[in-house]
Amino acid sequence: MASQNDNHDVAQQLRPRCALLSRHKLRRTARQQVVVVRDHCVQRGVGERWMKDGGIKETDPLAMADTDYAGSMLASAYKPPSLLPIAKYRDKLLYTIETFPVTVLIGQTGSGKTTQLPQYLEQAGWCDGGKVVAVTQPRRVAATSVATRVAEEVRCDIGQEVGYSIRFEDLTSEKTRIKFLTDGLLLREALVDPLLSRYSVIMVDEAHERSLSTDILLGVLKKIRKKRPELRIVVSSATLQAEDFLNFFTDTAEAHDTSSPPGGSQGRIFHLGGRMYPVDIQYLEQPAEDYVERTLKTVFDIHSTEAEGDILVFLTGREEIDHVVEEIATRSQELHHQSQKLQPLPLYAGLSSDQQMYVFEPATPNTRKVVVATNIAEASVTIDGIVYVIDCGYVKLRAYSPSTGIETLTATPVSKASATQRAGRAGRTKPGKCFRIYTSSDYATLHEATPPEVQRSNLAPIILQLKALGIDNVARFDFLTSPPAELMVRALELLYSLGALDDYARLTKPLGSRMAELSIEPFMAKVLLVAPEFGCLSEMLSIAAMASLQGAVWFSHDGEKKASESARRKFAAEEGDHLTLLNVYQAFITKGKKDAGWCRNNYLNFKSMTRAVSIRNQLRRYLERFGIDVSESLAPSALRVGGPDIGEKIRRCLTTGLFSQAARMQPDGTFKTVNGGTTLHAHPSSLMFNRKADWVIFQEAMETGTKIFIRDVTKIEKAWLLEYAPSFYKVKQ
Ligand code: CDP
Ligand code: MG
Repeated sequence: MASQNDNHDVAQQLRPRCALLSRHKLRRTARQQVVVVRDHCVQRGVGERWMKDGGIKETDPLAMADTDYAGSMLASAYKPPSLLPIAKYRDKLLYTIETFPVTVLIGQTGSGKTTQLPQYLEQAGWCDGGKVVAVTQPRRVAATSVATRVAEEVRCDIGQEVGYSIRFEDLTSEKTRIKFLTDGLLLREALVDPLLSRYSVIMVDEAHERSLSTDILLGVLKKIRKKRPELRIVVSSATLQAEDFLNFFTDTAEAHDTSSPPGGSQGRIFHLGGRMYPVDIQYLEQPAEDYVERTLKTVFDIHSTEAEGDILVFLTGREEIDHVVEEIATRSQELHHQSQKLQPLPLYAGLSSDQQMYVFEPATPNTRKVVVATNIAEASVTIDGIVYVIDCGYVKLRAYSPSTGIETLTATPVSKASATQRAGRAGRTKPGKCFRIYTSSDYATLHEATPPEVQRSNLAPIILQLKALGIDNVARFDFLTSPPAELMVRALELLYSLGALDDYARLTKPLGSRMAELSIEPFMAKVLLVAPEFGCLSEMLSIAAMASLQGAVWFSHDGEKKASESARRKFAAEEGDHLTLLNVYQAFITKGKKDAGWCRNNYLNFKSMTRAVSIRNQLRRYLERFGIDVSESLAPSALRVGGPDIGEKIRRCLTTGLFSQAARMQPDGTFKTVNGGTTLHAHPSSLMFNRKADWVIFQEAMETGTKIFIRDVTKIEKAWLLEYAPSFYKVKQ
């Protein structure tokens, strides 16, 4: 063990400060490095394999005892990347990417696709001449965490040679050569640079997730490819849908010629072999009444009966996860007789980058780590040391009903493909166990794969984007899977009613094109763009910024629910959640900005609030660029939403964007949608919970169990719906 560490130390000394150095610099020290790496590998018992089967085959055109190879192997501060499955395919992979415009890369999670391939590409010269390698992720949290990891591996500060860009957070610079970004953001970049010309290679990662933006991005890339034959596209996936992706890109006469391999001269499928250890799958004998409670019990069962190894728990969302993390913390205090402690850690999209990073750190000695995660841990991120997986059997999926126009996030049974992927997380480094909180007969009824998002989402945002990219006939857009016609029609109607499209379904100018450019949902973009007409732009900027935090405003300290609720009441505005958010923002600006203690006392999340300030500034800059006058006096006296006047202006203005999500309160305190078909409940976090109202608009609907809850709810007048959305609502004669 000691000698291994010694070797690692030598490696550390020899390691270039940043692996993104020019090739000749690497070569200078290569000879020494090769020696060290070989020693290191021999120590780990893999020396032979490395030498015999190091991916360097005589037939490979790029085969050579490549000195860069040695350089890159030393670049990790952690497990040497040379031990990752991808390492031995490095040269072959580079050859394939060089030779074929499209490569579909298949490999198990943790093989090194996301963190290693971009580095290989950079080392092979794909960033020469200022070009950039882009790696897209469906999730923001994955983009930030892998970027941070790669920056650490190449030893640069994040934002320098390696950076990331997600909505409202751009950590890149002129120097950035490897850029991680969400697929939605890359689509947005195409608005400014239609051929995405600064990128030499675009890796569409986690394509198997089939997120809405991934699908659309693939369609857009297919178009771009025709004009930029030199562009290299890598579609990477953890599951075996490879052929669909390859056929999508290479569906030509040549590809149909059975004498040539699939993909013809245009593309190839590249499989990364990879070892998986066996995973013992255990089912319940009887269905669980409450899967959350059963999950908790399973955590403690594993802890008391199973050997060492961390636990990864899959649950559906933030609320469940926070609850389970809290419960594990509380209940494990009673375990003092046990020598090993439990360390529960949450992982979901709303966490800050720092909070996420804890998950990747090894557990403190004599502690078993329990990572409680959403689907994000299924394939997007890899956590080392996991031996046990608990799969609750559900995932929160977006579902959009074109008839009610309500998009819900609903806990839905996972697909078989997901369940397999989840179980696989237990067998990465040694044999593991997966506990499914459902029965084997439940498993048999699951769908094979999750339907792609494009078939179950509100398409309005994406259609707006496509229109702005000049793709006017969206029905003929090359979708990987076509959306149902009714979703398309509904989206067009909605955009028309918002004023983004004209009678011929063309983008209106300037409203429609500006809406597309603003990086927020179409309804909020509309609201901001018309706010000057209502005289409430400053307020609306604050509301838009606060609303984009998606509920991360409040901090709920363990067991202090009552106190936090009474703190919230201080900011409550009678008219609803949006005005309450505005009160919070304004109070923060005047009292809490420099005082984290003030936030704590008011149960506000200081980091989120600071983020809201930054988002607001970014939105303001967008509007300035459009030539909209955003000068505002932020004098404290003007900040309070006291008079009925400004409140009404804001509510009217919100109605111009949110008219399609309107509901009316019933005598029993529930709400009904305008067509009367759907019952909605105010979410307990909403100000409208247990309060009287008549007509309201709401921003978000989510389905939990059998109920649909609405959040960010604001009171309006019925007449406003007709006034601001005459084409959407008709009065019954
Ligand atoms: O993309 P793929 O699933 O093939 O693998 P990867 O994300 O490139 O991960 C390769 C290795 O890097 C794994 O062993 C991870 O444990 C490690 N890694 C990490 O420790 N922390 C991260 N934030 C990302 C990756
Ligand atoms: Mg990956």
